[in-house]
Amino acid sequence: MRLLSVVGARPQFVKLAPVAAECARRKIDHVIVHTGQHYETALSEVFFTDLGIEDAHVHLSVGSGTHGAQTAAILERLEPVLTQRRPDWVMVYGDTNSTLAGALTAVKLRLPVAHLEAGLRSFNRAMPEEPNRVLTDHAADLLLAPTTTAMQHLAAEGLGSRSRLVGDVMVDVLHRQRASLGHADAVLARLHVVGGTYSVATIHRAENTDDPVRLEAIVATLARLGHRVVLLVHPRLRDRAAEHGVRLDRGALRSHDPLAYAELVALVDRARGVITDSGGLQKEAFVLGVPCTTVRRETEWVETLENGWNVLVEPGAELVSAASRPRPEPTSAAPYGTGRAAAAALDALGC
Ligand code: UD1
Repeated sequence: MRLLSVVGARPQFVKLAPVAAECARRKIDHVIVHTGQHYETALSEVFFTDLGIEDAHVHLSVGSGTHGAQTAAILERLEPVLTQRRPDWVMVYGDTNSTLAGALTAVKLRLPVAHLEAGLRSFNRAMPEEPNRVLTDHAADLLLAPTTTAMQHLAAEGLGSRSRLVGDVMVDVLHRQRASLGHADAVLARLHVVGGTYSVATIHRAENTDDPVRLEAIVATLARLGHRVVLLVHPRLRDRAAEHGVRLDRGALRSHDPLAYAELVALVDRARGVITDSGGLQKEAFVLGVPCTTVRRETEWVETLENGWNVLVEPGAELVSAASRPRPEPTSAAPYGTGRAAAAALDALGC
């Protein structure tokens, strides 16, 4: 059995880790193709090293570009790789341009495609990930869904017979990381913060970074919070803030380069809150029991909203009050599974 994984952006390396580990355990011939969508060490290499993933077998080195150019470059460069390697399954992850391009290339070659993290919907077609999700789900042969909500979305689109509920692989990774949170003290010391007193913030989505007025409103709101905010700066935010003259270090706000995964988990675990527009971080906060404030109008991870563990806000007064809210009642809900999603996914593939 040969499985070929196509990955390219930071959250996909995290999702790949438990799949790669499970493939190794089952002695499956696993080929990893890195599209090169993310190429900076802090967004790419560090995840392979830290999460113990073997280096990618093939690098397509497509780099940054417009959505069309990036997707097209992956299609063109991936085709000969798939033709030569002839995998039994191609696995694509999440909702990035690498996901859609991987699925399309495989489907055109009539290779079976499995989509991990299928069935997510924001119902907001203005965000680039939404068409990536819908098109990938409709192209793929096997849809590996993380939640019952995702299963319902797939059924509503007539895809129920191709769908399997496997749980969320990010919980697999989190459980593993949580067991080794020993270096948390060092991370907190390096960032000059004290456990329970700060929020961790990330803002990287185009809808928040690319409009200078909205970006300034978000940053200004974070700066006036009554507690320290550690802003981990994705390159898109770094570039847009510089371009629009938005200062990231002011008031309560301190900017920092992105962290490696284990460090991020340690920092979030000890935080009083998370403020983000990332999908992954909303779930990580939920699983770690840290209140999350999401700077978006909708979320795909609706389960996090129950009992107030996550709230959706606009910049300004709403964000200030949500980020300062008391901790909600503890919940024992585990909507994202129990940390065996990678094994369930490979079972579904018949590996
Ligand atoms: C992509 C995904 C998004 C995911 C995010 C995680 C799509 C449509 N979006 O968004 O779903 O949440 O990854 O980070 O696929 N850049 C660098 N160095 C890099 C990579 C990017 O400087 O290593 C800069 C470039 O200026 C680039 C911009 O960031 O144009 C955006 O990168 P891109 O890969 O297009 O999308 P992300 O915003 O990272």
